[in-house]
Amino acid sequence: MTDITLDRRALLVAGSAALVGTEAVLSPATAAAPMRAGALKFPAGFRWGASTAAHQIEGNNTNSDLWFLENLNPSTFVERSGDACDSYHRFAEDIAMLAKIGLNSYRFSVEWARIEPTRGQFSLAELDYYRRVIATCRQHGIAPAVTFFHGSAPRWFGEAGGWLNPDSAGLFARFCDKVARTLGADMACAFTINEPQVNEVFRAIPGGGDYFRKADAASLAMHQAAAKALNVPEFHSSGHPDFLRARPNMIAGHEQGYAAIKAAHGKLPTGVTLSVTDFQPANEDSPYREVREAAYGHWTEAVKRAGDFTGVQSYRMIRLPGKGAPLPPLPDMPFVRHDDPVGNMSRPEAVGNTLEYIWRATGKPVMMTENGLETENDAWRAWYIPEALKSLHAAIGRGVPVMGYFHWSLIDNFEWTRGYKPKFGLASVDRETFKRTLKPSAAVLGGIARANAV
Ligand code: BGC
Repeated sequence: MTDITLDRRALLVAGSAALVGTEAVLSPATAAAPMRAGALKFPAGFRWGASTAAHQIEGNNTNSDLWFLENLNPSTFVERSGDACDSYHRFAEDIAMLAKIGLNSYRFSVEWARIEPTRGQFSLAELDYYRRVIATCRQHGIAPAVTFFHGSAPRWFGEAGGWLNPDSAGLFARFCDKVARTLGADMACAFTINEPQVNEVFRAIPGGGDYFRKADAASLAMHQAAAKALNVPEFHSSGHPDFLRARPNMIAGHEQGYAAIKAAHGKLPTGVTLSVTDFQPANEDSPYREVREAAYGHWTEAVKRAGDFTGVQSYRMIRLPGKGAPLPPLPDMPFVRHDDPVGNMSRPEAVGNTLEYIWRATGKPVMMTENGLETENDAWRAWYIPEALKSLHAAIGRGVPVMGYFHWSLIDNFEWTRGYKPKFGLASVDRETFKRTLKPSAAVLGGIARANAV
């Protein structure tokens, strides 16, 4: 997670600068007329939700690997998570707000660092805490969609080498077993690992690795300082630059975690969530197919072996240059962000494209478990949401079995190494009082969810 800043925003590909500027940011006045509400119906039982993650909203996750790294010198975190959004105490408020918006599902994560504070010792009180979170969802008619691992792990796991440890898959599966047996009966669906390949996506692009060299060196220095401070040979977290070495263990972790959850509750729909950038060609002979394969292939194969569906997390499109003739520029769209110096574009078509790609690659149903826009201008989000959902609807029309849509995020939260500055929420959070205030975009999503149509 530590280099998520770069993963989110930046990528230097030879020639990618040429892509920037092919589309201009349009002013609000040029926004397309909103489409007639309700024209495009979604399937019955479609899940409408918002997503969060424990470390990003709960606060005081003091026993986690990331808390340790945030408080280290050197650290690549621009600020510490601290109280986050205090959702640990305010979960009932969050869930009530989600219901008020008009959503029917809540995707959140259970925090391993709280549930298994010491290796092999499970906290009944913390399990009971998440039982209350799940029960509160049910009281509001909200389906609990639960992630078992979203970025943060117990500090002891990091000290033991994290996902580099040959025992890591078994340790994670034991945690999954415990949680599924205790809480699984009331879950609506489960996700093993969140975006296990997030660090691979941009590095799959030719030249991508070079771009991260500096950030990787800083992250490595931080992890080495952690190992030294704790007197262990290697400290590993989700943001460790040696993610390729961790990949086989993460795949095994997903497979064994999936098996543990299914052994406890055979009928609980369970899958992994993947970070999926919509790689498209900018020129003929673009290597976009190879890049997709490198970024997603290991995991789409894993999904074929273990997974009832795949969670697809889509935020952007990148058009990759090639040696051939340039392809026509994409049509302009109001508010589409392409001021990124390196070619990330927040285009809503990425939603349908990525869902279709992962469905075709795995042959299993897909669920959009994260999609959203980083912006302080909520008018952009309010415009983006229906456009993204039209793209999702079009994918359904092409035969893609899409189970639901979860917006990232319910509330503005701790955006990993970048701290609290990036805003993704349907609601803002006062950093001193923790008061939540819904933004207008929440009503846009809620209206669509209630109508089950866009
Ligand atoms: C992650 C979230 C993150 C979001 C926005 C996703 O990759 O799962 O934890 O906050 O993107 O950057």
